[in-house]
Amino acid sequence: MKKNILIVPGDGIGQEVTAVGKKVLDKVAEKFGHEFLYDEALIGHVAIEATGSPLPDETLKKMKASDAILFGAVGHPKYDNDPTAKVRPEQGLLKMRKELGLYANLRPIKLFDELLDASSIKPEILRGADILFFRELTGDIYFGEKGRKNDGNTAYDIAEYSRFEVERIARKAFDAARTRRKKLCSVDKANVIETSRLWREVIQKIALEYPDVEVEHQFVDATAMLLIKDPRRFDVIVTANLFGDILTDEASQIAGSMGMLASASIGDGTGVYEPIHGSAHDITGKGVANPLASILSAALLLDISFGLKKESETVISAVDGVLKAGFRTRDIASPQTPHDHVLGTDAIGQEVLKRV
Ligand code: IPM
Ligand code: MG
Repeated sequence: MKKNILIVPGDGIGQEVTAVGKKVLDKVAEKFGHEFLYDEALIGHVAIEATGSPLPDETLKKMKASDAILFGAVGHPKYDNDPTAKVRPEQGLLKMRKELGLYANLRPIKLFDELLDASSIKPEILRGADILFFRELTGDIYFGEKGRKNDGNTAYDIAEYSRFEVERIARKAFDAARTRRKKLCSVDKANVIETSRLWREVIQKIALEYPDVEVEHQFVDATAMLLIKDPRRFDVIVTANLFGDILTDEASQIAGSMGMLASASIGDGTGVYEPIHGSAHDITGKGVANPLASILSAALLLDISFGLKKESETVISAVDGVLKAGFRTRDIASPQTPHDHVLGTDAIGQEVLKRV
């Protein structure tokens, strides 16, 4: 198979982990006889520095022309404490999601058994947990009208959803539930928020098309509690953009560490595959970032965008093999991990490559 892959490392540790993810893709191509052609493009803070824009036109053009995108992270601490900054790295990410029509963000939360003790949650609560989040990604309070009034003393962000937007993410989530344990939990705040009431109405309607899928509705506050109390009760969770953002960070603890979680953003065109962790400037350049989420993102890319199931599984079992052999990066090491088994970004990447 011949495919064009765009590498978009972005900011901070995005650079380091994406380089490792790309090496794994290369290895897969070599082993299975595929030809992957790569190009690279700028986004986020590095793009602002180079061009003034967090998503240069050139990047967007390359994105639309590629078959899949391996993405790193965006963000820079210098903007976090400057609420008045007009141009921000995150704007590049949001514009990319909108422009590429990436309305469905899949975040699989599955614990590798070897990492049971890396989480702050008790192992007996976690063992066997396996959740697939569908976070809506191009609507909600993220993209509604926002601004200031009363001479800047009042701020507002409008949350908006159309029936169509809820329907298309709902169908994706129901389809996925069908291939899994056939349980769908829709998360909203329909006791308070109008967009949530539309959300629930639409989910109830689509549910009629999927009589084989068991549906439950939960409020977001209760879900936040249930994820920690009993994560095994969930199979597929579908929710709005902002709730999904928050709940998936929380759920990363079910997978041991944020450094392990991959995601896929899909929709109308090219899919984007990225770790859910951010740019982590506190550890940037130290060579200690965990590249496993980027590697697992590459596995999702192979599976979802290219339909290469066997190749994808090979990558996942290589990661599993590395963990089974006892190797860890700092973020997932435990006090019991022998010193010489705590590896840096490149070294753990090499262990994965060996096993692919
Ligand atoms: C994520 C991130 C982004 C989001 C930020 C960086 C804008 O937290 O992908 O979860 O809020 O969607
Ligand atoms: Mg987030």
